[in-house]
Parts: sequence; structure tokens; C-alpha cells
Amino acid sequence: MRILLGVSGGVAAYKAVLLLRLLREQGHRVRVVPTASALRFVGAPTFEALSGEKVSTEVFDDVPQVAHVALGQGADLVIVAPATADLLARAAAGRADDLLTSTLLTVHCPVVMAPAMHTEMWQHPATVANVATLRSRGVHVIEPASGRLTGKDTGPGRLPEPEDIARLALEVAGRAGARGAPQDLAGLHVVVSAGGTREPIDPVRFIGNLSSGRQGVALARAAQDRGARVTLVAANLTEPLDGIEDVVRVGSTAELRDAVRAAAPGADVVVMTAAVADFRPARTPGAKIKKVPGQGPAPIELVENPDILAELARERLRPGQVVVGFAAETGDETGDVLHHGRAKARRKGADLLVINPVGGGRGFGTDSNEVTIVDAQGETVAQAAGSKREVADAVWDAVLKLSPPLAATTD
Ligand SMILES: Cc1cc2nc3c(=O)[nH]c(=O)nc-3n(C[C@H](O)[C@H](O)[C@H](O)COP(=O)(O)O)c2cc1C
Repeated sequence: MRILLGVSGGVAAYKAVLLLRLLREQGHRVRVVPTASALRFVGAPTFEALSGEKVSTEVFDDVPQVAHVALGQGADLVIVAPATADLLARAAAGRADDLLTSTLLTVHCPVVMAPAMHTEMWQHPATVANVATLRSRGVHVIEPASGRLTGKDTGPGRLPEPEDIARLALEVAGRAGARGAPQDLAGLHVVVSAGGTREPIDPVRFIGNLSSGRQGVALARAAQDRGARVTLVAANLTEPLDGIEDVVRVGSTAELRDAVRAAAPGADVVVMTAAVADFRPARTPGAKIKKVPGQGPAPIELVENPDILAELARERLRPGQVVVGFAAETGDETGDVLHHGRAKARRKGADLLVINPVGGGRGFGTDSNEVTIVDAQGETVAQAAGSKREVADAVWDAVLKLSPPLAATTD
């Protein structure tokens, strides 16, 4: 792929070097277009040596080539990382005062921007408005990560890791390339839950799990690409969710249950990929639980959470609704992953249960997955292995093959 990597002038410009190397290692041709400020943070020779391409910042360099037009027309994907507050403002205003902003006005390919700045700059109404303008024009603006900023400050505004930017940007490009994908979910409203719930122990601690939510996000994106209207119920997700139209953020299992049940009456399909807690602390004190030396660990009494998947399968909040569950399983001395998964399918009553082995580096937090899809009787209906997107497409294929077939409802 021919990638144009725009770099603007923030401290995080050094991460653009890592992103460049990563994209090159993946076999992409990358042309770096920095702003003049970016070159005060990282020198042009670094970008030139790693990209093997000339670097310039001005439209008046290389005039016979009319670089800003040639670069824009020749790119399959533009990534701007980091995108400063200033760059966002200039792009939103349609300025063309250097090579990068001029090129942004000539491109036809997907544009992904990864902002990085202090929290105050990110949350300023001017930046918020600029981001909204860019998004309304189809630019994919990635939510910055939260964490340590320059100096001692922490908060939202940090540039996401280069691996995450690369993965998301290539997904965006892949989706754009897949616009010819069959719109076989058109007319359907699907609700997908993703992530891992957190059950508060006290104001600062919680019981959580290792689910990254990537498989759920892949399901939501795949459904959207195939024409569905998607509501994503996102439990503590740090995954970028740009482009997903309806996102409801939740924390605990109780909140997730409320959000899914609020959306389900309008849904043709509900897919529960979120890893929810089976138990929660019976009480959540308002103050942090103190350690009293010598008294041993604090007794934390647990109570059972409702089984959201079984409830949805039993109640069918919309007639004819398809309910799909995910079962992250490990084998033990009583049976292997599939044995436990098939038993769970029979207990839960969902139309499909997607069984995926986890633990030992599999499933959680990885880019690939390996699943067996079973029906309510625990019989295998499909198997899939590959990227989480490929697994997501296999799940939607299995949903479409259900009998009786799904009938899109209008609401
Ligand atoms: C040390 C230093 C760090 C900076 N970090 C950022 C940053 O992270 N994000 C940002 O939006 N601006 C940052 N700035 C301000 C930009 O460099 C400044 O707005 C500049 O005009 C951006 O130009 P450009 O958008 O053309 O690259 C920083 C400035 C300095 C001196």
C-alpha cells in the first residue's frame, strides 16, 4: 500500500518514527510529509533514511512535480500522527499553507488522524469543534489515549501506541477497499457488547478481567460494513471506536445489562461478546478499604450477577430476535474447551454460542482468534480461525444461515 505519513509538531513526533518503521516492515511504501514544526522535533534525515523517500515540508519544493497534487492522488492511505491542535485546526479550516495541509485537500483515499496534545488543548471547544468538522467530512480521528503526557501531567491527549495506530489505519483502509462487500446485513439493527466489566470493590479497586474488546469491536465494524445499523455497548474499552455510529459506554455488569436491555427491544440481533463478571462484591463502601496490619485480607463477600445472556435468550426482548453469545473457555480436568462450551450452549439457550479458547496467550488482547460456533444444542455449525475481523465475518455468516432466516424489521 502507498501510505502518506503526515507528522506535525508535537513531542510525540518521535513515535511517528516507530510508526514509519513498523509500516515499512509490513511492506508498505511510506512517504513522510512533516510540518516545519515536526522537523524541530525529529530531523528530516531520520524520516528519509527510514522511508527511503525524500522529505519536504513546502509546496515550493519540487515545483515541476506539483508535489501536493501528485502525493495526494498517489496515496492509498493517509495517516497523520501525531496531529497537533494546530494541524487539526488548519485541516478543519481547509488551509493549504504547507505541503501536508495542501495534500490533505487533494487526497481521495481514507485519512486517519491521531491527535496528541495536552488534555486542556484536546478538550478546548475549538479543538472539539475542529475534530467534529473533520469527522463529519469522513476523516477518521482516533481518540487519544489517556496517560502520562509531557512533564508530570496525565489525562487524555496521549498519542496511541504506533502498533494501535497502524492496525486501526490499515483496518480503515481495508474497510474502504471492501466497500464493495455484500450488504447482506442491510436493514438489520444489531447490538454488540464488547470489553470487560469492572465490579467495584471500593472507590479505587475493582474486580475485572483481561478482555480487550477487540473481537466485539471487530463484530461491530464488520456488521456496519455489511450494512447493519450497529449499537456497541462498550465496557471499559480502550480500543479506538471511531466510525462506529452508536456507542454506549458502561463500566460494571449491572450497567452493561441495563444498556443492552435498553437497546435490545429495537434489535434484530444481539451479540454478547463482553466478558461479564459472574460475581460482584455484595457491598461497595464509600471509602477505600484500609489494610490493618496483622488482621489478614479484608473479607470481600461476593454475590451472583444476573446471567445476561441466558435472560436475553429466554425473554427475546423483540419477537424473532437472534441472540448470540461468546464463551471464553479453558479446559480443565473435567473436560476440554469444546466440552465446556457445548454444555454452556445447552444451558444458555442462545441461538449460537461462539466458543473460543483463552489463556496461554490465546484469545484476549491478541489480533487473531480461533473459534467454534455451536447452536443451542451444542452442535458445531461453523469453525473459523484468523484475524478477529475474519472471525467476525464468520459469525455474521453463521447468523445469516440460521433457520428460520432473519427477517429485517423496521423501526
Ligand atoms: C516542546 C513542545 C511540545 C509541543 N507539543 C505539542 C503537542 O503535543 N501537541 C500540540 O498540539 N502542540 C504541541 N506543541 C505546539 C506546536 O508545536 C505548535 O502549535 C506548532 O505551531 C504546531 O505546528 P504544526 O501543526 O504545523 O506542526 C508543542 C510545542 C513545543 C515547543
